[in-house]
Amino acid sequence: MAQVDVLPEVTKFIESDPRMVIGGAAVAAASGQTFDVYDPSTGKVITHAPRGSAEDIDRAVAAAREAFEDGRWTGLRPGKRSEILFKIGELIKRNIPELTQLESLDSGKPVSIAAGEMWMASEVFRYYSGWPTKIFGETNPTADDMFVYSLREPLGVCGGIIPWNFPLVMAVWKVAPALACGNTVVLKPAEQTPLTAVRLAELCLEAGVPEGVVNVVTGLGPEAGAALASHMDVDKVAFTGSTEVGRKILEASAGNLKRVSLELGGKSPNIVFADANMKRAAKGSMMGVFLNSGQVCTAGTRILVESSVHDDFVASLVEATAAMKLGPGLDETTGMGPVVSQEQLDRVTGYIDIGKGEGAEVVTGGERATDLGDGYFVQPTVFAGVKNDMRIAQEEIFGPVAAVIEVKDVEEAIEVANDTVYGLASAVWTTDLSKAHRVAKGIKAGTVWINTAGQYDPSVSFGGYKQSGFGRELGAHSIETYTQTKSVWVSLK
Ligand code: NAI
Ligand code: MG
Repeated sequence: MAQVDVLPEVTKFIESDPRMVIGGAAVAAASGQTFDVYDPSTGKVITHAPRGSAEDIDRAVAAAREAFEDGRWTGLRPGKRSEILFKIGELIKRNIPELTQLESLDSGKPVSIAAGEMWMASEVFRYYSGWPTKIFGETNPTADDMFVYSLREPLGVCGGIIPWNFPLVMAVWKVAPALACGNTVVLKPAEQTPLTAVRLAELCLEAGVPEGVVNVVTGLGPEAGAALASHMDVDKVAFTGSTEVGRKILEASAGNLKRVSLELGGKSPNIVFADANMKRAAKGSMMGVFLNSGQVCTAGTRILVESSVHDDFVASLVEATAAMKLGPGLDETTGMGPVVSQEQLDRVTGYIDIGKGEGAEVVTGGERATDLGDGYFVQPTVFAGVKNDMRIAQEEIFGPVAAVIEVKDVEEAIEVANDTVYGLASAVWTTDLSKAHRVAKGIKAGTVWINTAGQYDPSVSFGGYKQSGFGRELGAHSIETYTQTKSVWVSLK
């Protein structure tokens, strides 16, 4: 074990009174209630967070509305907003050690991985800090006696409902573009991982974001989350999470027809062709499915392998899996941490039993790991002999479980890859250039990785086909989804 020492500022944050951020102030829930926050590596309660209700969402939306309407953010010179956004990125960077530990304690993810995510969060702010000065409308080629131009304006109050798998990164993917476009924000982090969102709001204030522009209400999905999704004074909700809740968000939006963007589940194909570099493909496929204990919406959980290399590939995959160390998040040598909660532990082990019952063969793993104490550890598990119509090949497990499916050629690979209700991501491993691009074109998914997996960049748009959702995050696409255009007609007569 190479357990890191918990930093004093992390201990202080955890031991302080639970708080959220509304109108620039650190506040408790109106009801005074809290909920427990667990460390998944030990299964123990580490702190409490305010159990925000509809009343708290009302307060936060009112603060965000006032901040939007009086122009304290939108009305700032674009260059000034740019400067503040850059500063948030720098503050996140400066606080990476603290944020890393908080994220690791809250979610169970290894510190080595969490540190990279905190870096990504700071990078996203730096990327969007360039945008305020580059968002503008157009002039239109209309009749000679008219002058028509468009204004590109913010939407207003934007809600963000965040999952627990990448708590800070998912929050930043929403907050940074929303702010770059001049909106104000109400965030509802996941109840499993509320801590870094609160720190983010505090860092925004420290960077000079005016009070009320970024608000965070911690609380439960059916309470605070549902109140935000159905709120009549919220102009947009961006949601990342389960497809099941995504449907509820869409229904809840009908009241005031707020804009919605949904980034939902996946069952992404990872295709290995016989001409692939096998070592690279095995390692990449392993990371693609087991990163973050498989709790990744883009996880390459269906590993499609061409028949002629099937057995060799499975052996390499098992070997690559064995090299990854399972352990607590705060251990620097850990490659894979626990799953996030008792609920996820039950769900994942339940699916492993389903796979065994469906007749798939466990080639490695297949059990809860009990030698690491009471934490929610699951052995990285590879099933072979999987048929694409089995439940373990069709349903999102969201844990360290891979399903290897044999395919005979390119055509069958594309057919099986697309035989899912989801369409978030995919990966293709081959050294044949034309084959790679043919498959990329044939796959119905928002992202295709060729000879790599799990890559993200602030400039590259991200989102789903089919039931993996709609709308795109990151890149210039986010600027479109956080703004609206107004056409202004001027008579020249
Ligand atoms: P979830 O979809 O319930 O939670 C995501 C967020 O939605 C959380 O902030 C939660 O508080 C909120 N929420 C829940 N119910 C809500 C409601 N009625 N109205 C508004 N907000 C609500 O996900 P959960 O239950 O934590 O995980 C279940 C499964 O969902 C996972 O096993 C996984 O398959 C999938 N999931 C997918 C994610 C992704 O990135 N695509 C992220 C998290 C979960
Ligand atoms: Mg749920």
